[in-house]
Amino acid sequence: MTLFYEPEADTLLIAKAIAHLDGFQPKTALDVGVGSGALSQVIQKKWPSCHVLGIDINDAALEHCQNLGLHVQKSDLFETISTKFNLIVCNPPYLPQNEHDDMTDAYTRALVGGKNGYEYILAFLEQAKQFLEENGKIVFLFSSLSNKSVIDTELYKSPYIVKFLTTEHVGLMEDLYVYELTLPKAYFVLQKPQFLAKGKRGLVLKGMSKKKVVVAKVPLDETQRIKILEKEALFLKRANESHIGPTYLMHTDHYILMEYVDGVHLRDYLKSATPMQKETVLVKIMHQCEKLDKAGIAKAEMTNPGKNILVTKTHKPVLIDFERASFTQKTKNANQFKEFIKRHS
Ligand SMILES: C[S@@+](CC[C@H](N)C(=O)[O-])C[C@H]1O[C@@H](n2cnc3c(N)ncnc32)[C@H](O)[C@@H]1O
Repeated sequence: MTLFYEPEADTLLIAKAIAHLDGFQPKTALDVGVGSGALSQVIQKKWPSCHVLGIDINDAALEHCQNLGLHVQKSDLFETISTKFNLIVCNPPYLPQNEHDDMTDAYTRALVGGKNGYEYILAFLEQAKQFLEENGKIVFLFSSLSNKSVIDTELYKSPYIVKFLTTEHVGLMEDLYVYELTLPKAYFVLQKPQFLAKGKRGLVLKGMSKKKVVVAKVPLDETQRIKILEKEALFLKRANESHIGPTYLMHTDHYILMEYVDGVHLRDYLKSATPMQKETVLVKIMHQCEKLDKAGIAKAEMTNPGKNILVTKTHKPVLIDFERASFTQKTKNANQFKEFIKRHS
């Protein structure tokens, strides 16, 4: 029996995906779970000047790779890594453990990703963020046997921007998937960046900037990104002139920064507020709608603003999300909000 993982269909699929990465010149790359060294060799061939490091827990694999002239280092996931990389690739162990699997056996550890198959992958995804350079890419593979929906859900709740690269059906009932992950520029600008929310339109991070707690919004539509940011910045600044919305701080072509509002969505607030509190907050929102009407700004979500207004602990409503706002002569924020109140009284 071989002492380390020899290239299989999974290796070939992720190798092909790496070989097709375009418009990208990594100076440094990390091959997590280097095994036979196949992926390191693909990287080295595609980008001859790239410095590639392979890590593994399996001594036999490390010795084999060293004999091939590859740079290797023993490491349990990122344990012995202290620098960042432009490219991180990983073909992980991804099979669910069965009762006969001996997890102290190095070869079993090349195949088995934990009790459910996805544990190693989730640990990899959690740790990899700290070791990725700005503009860097992570390319990793997983299988339908490692529970795709758990992995997709984890990625949805993460700051990663996910791009599907390729898939292949193997054997009788297994599908392999290769994803590319990047981190938004804002992630590298903030101190202590944290994931806050993700939707179809954008990604929201929370973190520190100039000693303030701030929010960075990142549009996910690459083709419209700059337009969306310009628009949100314009309307947020205008709204701020009437003391509406979170304070605008700055924006670039990649993100907009605003003050963090510590609050709950209006729809959740209304579920637990007393009738008095509800009335006070709804009246305050109505005043803000009237001010926006006067300023000629249509907020666009006032018939259903449950998720577009935050209410703070001091019962202050703050309108958020100005990317769909527009200038208009016939502003209807107050009328639209009256409709909402009618439906909720
Ligand atoms: C599926 S094999 C992939 C090998 C090779 N990269 C390829 O694509 O053919 C997974 C590799 O991860 C290594 N591995 C398993 N657990 C690890 C851990 N905790 N830290 C580092 N490497 C690990 C295994 O020894 C094995 O070489």
